[in-house]
Amino acid sequence: MATTVLVGAQWGDEGKGKIIDVLTEQADVVVRYQGGNNAGHTVEVGNEKYVLHLVPSGILYPGKLNVIGNGVVVDPLALLEEINHLQARGIAINGNLLVSDRANLVLPYHRLLDALREEQKGKGKIGTTKRGIGPAYSDKVGRTGIRVVDLLSPASFSEKLRRKVRETNEIARTFGAKPLSFAKINAEYLAAAKKLRRHIADTVTLLNRYERDGRQILLEGAQGTLLDIDFGTYPFVTSSNTTAGGACAGSGIPPHRIGRVVGVMKAYTTRVGEGPFPTELLDASGAMLRETGKEFGATTGRPRRCGWFDAVATRFSVMLNGIDELAVTKMDVLDTLPKIKVCVAYKLDGKLVETVPADVDALLHCKPVYQEFDGWQTSTKLVRNFDDLPKKARLYLNKLAQLSGTKLGIVSVGPRRAETIFL
Ligand code: IMP
Repeated sequence: MATTVLVGAQWGDEGKGKIIDVLTEQADVVVRYQGGNNAGHTVEVGNEKYVLHLVPSGILYPGKLNVIGNGVVVDPLALLEEINHLQARGIAINGNLLVSDRANLVLPYHRLLDALREEQKGKGKIGTTKRGIGPAYSDKVGRTGIRVVDLLSPASFSEKLRRKVRETNEIARTFGAKPLSFAKINAEYLAAAKKLRRHIADTVTLLNRYERDGRQILLEGAQGTLLDIDFGTYPFVTSSNTTAGGACAGSGIPPHRIGRVVGVMKAYTTRVGEGPFPTELLDASGAMLRETGKEFGATTGRPRRCGWFDAVATRFSVMLNGIDELAVTKMDVLDTLPKIKVCVAYKLDGKLVETVPADVDALLHCKPVYQEFDGWQTSTKLVRNFDDLPKKARLYLNKLAQLSGTKLGIVSVGPRRAETIFL
């Protein structure tokens, strides 16, 4: 396996956790490269179900190294809670989990600012996860962030924290919010720093050494392409580069060392939070997809908006990420449907639109142009070979790949490791 980047090709929640999990078998190192604990990767192993937020899913396999890369924003308390939770369930966490010393921290004032900004936006809110992700990345880019490496120097950490809490409290006062206590945050986070110390490392140098030594590296993206800060449905996006390019900046592995890009997409589309979603179904079909597909947020529990497969969006994703291979998930969710639609283009003011427009208002007014397929109306859950899928299911999958502009590599017919078809 060449150094592989795995990305979400839609609006997140594509089932990346499951696909990363099946690919991890061949990997030595699994790296998260962006986002924070806004993500929720669900992995089912045997009868156990795990929801991971910051820790790479390689942690569920013994003997793999797991790296939280420099591009991730790390909430130290959330990370410790996740480590404790996994350990309590019998997962060994020791030298197999490293956090980049260059990663920026998410601190309580980021969560406060996230909530205040959303409140101020009123009806125009983004619908964030309220985990402080946007404000943490704002500080990073504004060069006022506090980083993981600062946790190793308590005096300097406290000094930086004092300044940031003072600044945030001025904003909090303006908006009538309760001010934060520097003393409380300082004590809590210095205690967390002591516990995290053994996981902090120069992961950039280490990953490059491993890569040169021929170890197999799997870079896992969080969220999805249409939530990318540059290419997504701005401003209804997350605050990092979720696309394959982000894997290099977020891990320190040079672009020419990446050998393969896998794009994960559902056999239909979902989105959480606000923002345009051309193929959204507000009728019984949408409710059916939500119920059958158990489409409720892994991080916030919010019901996901559901709709038909949008090939304009996935074509855009294939282009942006250079996706070599598709993993189509949740195929089984469509098993009972008599008819299935796929959006092949948009129509805007009577004109055909074949790529995702930059203007969010334009996208909001785009109407999907659908091609209709016959459903296969048999269970695919027990199928393990592509050729054993019903003919109509194969036709549908081949069409998704063709319309997206790349080849099919994996089809997932259920949440478990075994419920996977490799082509
Ligand atoms: P934030 O990342 O919390 O700032 O939220 C920004 C947007 O990204 C919102 O629409 C969220 O619902 C969405 N988002 C963030 N993380 C995820 C995820 O893991 N899956 C799906 N949507 C997400």
